[in-house]
Amino acid sequence: MEPPRVVVGISGASGMPYALDLLEALQGLAEVHLVLSQGAKRVLWEEMGLSPKDLYPLASRVYKDGDLGAPIASGSFPTRGMVVVPCSATTLAKVAWGLADTLLTRAAYVHLKERRPLILVPRETPLPLPTLRAMVQAAEAGAVVLPASPGFYHRPKEVKDLLGFITQRILDHLGLKAERAPRWGET
Ligand SMILES: Cc1cc2nc3c(=O)[nH]c(=O)nc-3n(C[C@H](O)[C@H](O)[C@H](O)COP(=O)(O)O)c2cc1C
Repeated sequence: MEPPRVVVGISGASGMPYALDLLEALQGLAEVHLVLSQGAKRVLWEEMGLSPKDLYPLASRVYKDGDLGAPIASGSFPTRGMVVVPCSATTLAKVAWGLADTLLTRAAYVHLKERRPLILVPRETPLPLPTLRAMVQAAEAGAVVLPASPGFYHRPKEVKDLLGFITQRILDHLGLKAERAPRWGET
């Protein structure tokens, strides 16, 4: 059986380790279609000293954000779902209000219109009213708003335990199974 296709969009919020952890978790689980926003390139460098090329081995296909003719821009290209991780306040607002002027935002728009899972992982604090409103709007439009806000009840010891908490919740929403963190009530 073909592995499910998952679109991963990386935008310019802090939290690049979350994107890396998800890409690693998807290895062998899904065919990853990756797109980075302009803002993501800057933050990827600032936070991890990486350039987009460093992520290429973790994806089946990588697209330019300006390539609005890419397969993931069309609803006729079947996917299991899309994750935007981390999701900047700018990208969140665009997605919430249907602005689709880049490949990342167009692919997110397509997932909403096709009623496929769209998981947005915002990282901002504190949250100003425009972003709070955008979260409500995105949720009403059908997206799952899954803030990069890990719990501590699994007693994390390392950063990877915090990343795994968020990655696992994302995978759960995609219907993909990978144990990245202990589950409450299970040993
Ligand atoms: C080092 C760095 C960290 C940033 N962190 C955040 C953040 O945590 N959340 C956020 O919404 N924007 C953050 N920004 C600002 C966004 O990158 C900026 O608003 C950008 O225009 C987002 O565009 P994009 O959504 O197309 O990537 C950060 C920028 C830099 C340079």
